[in-house]
Amino acid sequence: MSAILLPVSLPEFLVEPLSRLHTITETPSPDIRGLVVPGGYKVQEALLTNLPKLEIISVFGVGYDGVPLDYCRKHDVHVTNTPDVLTEDVADIATALVLMTSRRLAAAERFIHAGLWADGAFPLAHALRGKTAGIFGLGRIGKAISERLIAHGMKIAYHGRQPQAVAYTYCSTLVELAQVSDFLIVACPGGTGTRHLINAEVLSALGHEGTLINIARGSVIDEAALIHALKTNVIRGAGLDVFDNEPHISADLLACENTVLLPHVGSATHETRHAMAQLVVDNLAAHFEGRALLTPVS
Ligand code: 8YV
Repeated sequence: MSAILLPVSLPEFLVEPLSRLHTITETPSPDIRGLVVPGGYKVQEALLTNLPKLEIISVFGVGYDGVPLDYCRKHDVHVTNTPDVLTEDVADIATALVLMTSRRLAAAERFIHAGLWADGAFPLAHALRGKTAGIFGLGRIGKAISERLIAHGMKIAYHGRQPQAVAYTYCSTLVELAQVSDFLIVACPGGTGTRHLINAEVLSALGHEGTLINIARGSVIDEAALIHALKTNVIRGAGLDVFDNEPHISADLLACENTVLLPHVGSATHETRHAMAQLVVDNLAAHFEGRALLTPVS
């Protein structure tokens, strides 16, 4: 049995099948051949240098922004992730955030629980039909979001490295995308390449009738600039499922009433998390049995 390191706590439905096939440990040692981490987990190179026999890192998540890919390439360490199986759930949460922010559903719910309805109707909110969703990162998740929002009568624009063969409006810069968007939706990968790309300039281009939605990584947004934009009504609001420094949320952000904040629940369903766990198990089994990886990170 090969030794697999799990440096942080992972769900039992992943740990249990892994422990039937491998020797699972929480402590680094020179005989470790595999490493399993959650999506976005920061894998320090200092850890990897202490694992001379490491052959594979299997990410329990689609985002492998925490994995030092250059180090892995140089040392022949394979990397896998769990794409596709979580696409629909994450797109559902992006859509929910668009609806929750536009229709002010969380505030409406708090209003009725507070017993305020008898004193007067809840204030009018904003409709989605005819509005533009600007999607930053039209990958698998971005496309699934676009399909849902079209069903809500929205128009779609997008920005990414290059135009794609789709019928949506391509914007060659993020500022241009923000300018045409009522909802700017962040669905790109995290990591150094996208760090703080949503900055003060982009937020000001989104404007006071615009809303920012993020289901990708907190790192893509300059959080200080976002808090300033929310406090000073540079933008109308934000719907966020991901944050810098999760699970510790900045008190300034929590104090912004024009936000809907979710505790990173994009892929958090029984069905999806079990399918993600199965992919981790299957990728590791394929590797140690000498078969092709199911979902390698290129
Ligand atoms: C999960 C994620 O929270 O897939 C990702 O990259 O961030 C989320 O799906 C996480 O990976 C669960 O470990």
